[in-house]
Amino acid sequence: MYIQILGSAAGGGFPQWNCNCRNCRGVRDGSLRTQARSQSSIALSDNGKDWILCNASPDIRSQLESFPALQPARQLRDTAIGGIILLDSQIDHCTGLLTLREGCPHQVWCTEMVHQDLSSGFPLFNMLEHWNGGLQHQRIELDGAPFSIAACPDLAITAIALRSSAPPYSPHRGNPHPGDNIGLFVEDRRTGGKLFYAPGLGQVDDSLLNWMRRADCLLVDGTLWRDDEMRVCEVGDKLGSEMGHLCQSGPGGMIEVLDGLPAAQKILIHINNTNPILDLDSPEHAELRAHDIEVAWDGMSIQL
Ligand code: MLT
Ligand code: MN
Ligand code: ZN
Repeated sequence: MYIQILGSAAGGGFPQWNCNCRNCRGVRDGSLRTQARSQSSIALSDNGKDWILCNASPDIRSQLESFPALQPARQLRDTAIGGIILLDSQIDHCTGLLTLREGCPHQVWCTEMVHQDLSSGFPLFNMLEHWNGGLQHQRIELDGAPFSIAACPDLAITAIALRSSAPPYSPHRGNPHPGDNIGLFVEDRRTGGKLFYAPGLGQVDDSLLNWMRRADCLLVDGTLWRDDEMRVCEVGDKLGSEMGHLCQSGPGGMIEVLDGLPAAQKILIHINNTNPILDLDSPEHAELRAHDIEVAWDGMSIQL
């Protein structure tokens, strides 16, 4: 299985256009050892030629340009994207579908809850009907059974309902429904490689741990270092726990969760621009290294 990190930042990206926090300032003026990051999205493939896009970020245009495998140029109009999976209905994970309108119809796998949000509060399915067949909804069930997508027949994909958060325009905001957010457990039937991917993960319970324990690579929510980070950085007052993001530090935090799991690779993705782990010289980044946890970057590739 080929995994390409197209974008590794949380909503807003890094730097965020209107932000002058220490990190955003530091990446702009070069005073921080770090790199800029676009909003989170990955691509998966079983053969390196045909790809499944997981989430479509607002930064998709430059993400596709930066990864030539997605533009094989076999004919006048072409793409190597053979299917799109949405893990939630958040702006930072769906808005890129608007940019892909010239290539409609697209097959879009998502849960019924995400399909509802994207047919009401953020009606991408309705809008794109006007572009050559638009988005064709392929329903993701939460029955624990793997599904596959014709573009990558060797990938067995299982959706796992997560406790995270629906977006502000969702009727389920503050009233979580199964399917508002999912994680993916992806197994390559040929190589046996197993990935667990969850860019938005608010709570970890025993049944989720059982999936995470089986993975060779964990690619999980790295939004915030501390739950009150937005307050400490004076950029907002929401807690990570209110937004459905488990922070890394402290008791029960993501570092502790990952420490208990056998995966050979543990990688954080969907990093918010306030997170001190973006600074390679920070004590927080050193702490991650001590726990063998990596921070995803745009352009990172993994093979399982
Ligand atoms: C989130 O996951 O909470 C988002 O990144 C928020 C957003 O995109 O506005
Ligand atoms: Mn997000
Ligand atoms: Zn910032």
